[in-house]
Amino acid sequence: MKIQVRFVYVAALAAMVCLQAQTPEPKKAEEVFKNITELKGTPADQLLPAMQFMSASLGVQCSFCHVQGKNEADEKKPKMVAREMIAMTNAMNKTHFKGQRELTCNSCHNGATHPASMPPVQAADAARVETPRPGGPTPTAEQILDKYVEALGGEQAIQKVTSRVMKGVVLANGQESEIEIFAKAPNKRISAMKMPNGESLTAFDGTTGWLGSTGRPARVMSAAESDAARMDAELYMAVKMKSFFESIRPGRPEKIGDVACVALMGLRPGQPPVRMFFDRSTGLLVRTIRYTETPLGRNPTQIDYADYKEVDGVKVPMKWTLARPNGRFTIQIKEIQQNVAVDDSKFAKPAGE
Ligand code: HEC
Ligand code: HEC
Repeated sequence: MKIQVRFVYVAALAAMVCLQAQTPEPKKAEEVFKNITELKGTPADQLLPAMQFMSASLGVQCSFCHVQGKNEADEKKPKMVAREMIAMTNAMNKTHFKGQRELTCNSCHNGATHPASMPPVQAADAARVETPRPGGPTPTAEQILDKYVEALGGEQAIQKVTSRVMKGVVLANGQESEIEIFAKAPNKRISAMKMPNGESLTAFDGTTGWLGSTGRPARVMSAAESDAARMDAELYMAVKMKSFFESIRPGRPEKIGDVACVALMGLRPGQPPVRMFFDRSTGLLVRTIRYTETPLGRNPTQIDYADYKEVDGVKVPMKWTLARPNGRFTIQIKEIQQNVAVDDSKFAKPAGE
């Protein structure tokens, strides 16, 4: 007995060592890009998210700091100022905030190139009213999750769905395009958006996420993108939440529009939290906010779910809006079918990186 246990332990250890040897060290920003001084040592796949974070915090486009097609050039003054600002922000966090990343570009800039140094005058002649917290005792995380699963139709009904095929439209910037989404249990998903010159694909094959568009080679997603794609792909997420997250804590109740919501925070080691808001009366998921880590701060992605419709005994949101600092789109589903055969090959990344 003892020998057996020992053997299993050694085998597991060997497998771990083997895995470690196989996973290559992620590339550093300075190994991939040409002219990095302040962001040295950060993972290369966080460089662009960091750029998006700066752009959104200052409310500018890339061209505010960069000469188009020559991102490595130090020709524009704001780029040089940004370098100093990165150093300043890091130093302030180190000396004043115990090394925690409390202060970010957005703390001061809040969407403007020139931070406001004076408080604004009162906008309207109205007495300030504190919005009361939604009434009643706050349910536990367990109760919120159970109510959510019940609201969707119950664990059995949820797990009877083996695939879901949806057709609808994407609305973005006043334009409408067709979209088709295929999902297969437990966690495969692909969406194809019809563009004037072909298709734009977003997929998770069960292990890895990839992106494709007609005429260009498909590319594997970054670790953060892939993690987000996996969350969207989990067909049984509602019943899997407790195993997906390491721990789930109740968050502060909030009102979203007119809807009183209770909140949960899903935590995983080494990952930013995922915040979820549930309609206090119906129990359904109203909003998810997840974050992409960057060396300068976190970029949020907010997804609002609406128009829940019952299909084969399970409630499915027929509309959702995804919003990021740099844009938003809404998907409206018009046709939905469940438990149709979808071949695994549908989700596979085409050959060629
Ligand atoms: C507020 C100024 C600012 C904005 C806005 C900005 N960047 Fe940058 N960018 C920088 C700075 C500063 C560096 C150098 C970082 C360093 O030295 O560590 C950089 C470096 C880069 C690099 C690396 C170039 C190389 O080879 O060295 C790329 C690529 C890049 N930015 C792309 C973008 C894109 C794309 C956007 C828009 C989404 C953007 N940047 C927006 C300031 C900015
Ligand atoms: C502690 C507050 C604070 C923080 C944090 C901060 N900034 Fe600034 N930033 C300022 C102030 C103040 C100015 C000067 C504005 C002016 O001249 O009116 C400025 C100016 C700038 C400018 C020049 C704007 C222009 O029009 O030329 C850039 C670019 C900039 N900041 C980028 C950043 C970036 C990127 C970060 C995060 C890494 C950051 N800042 C963090 C306060 C801050």
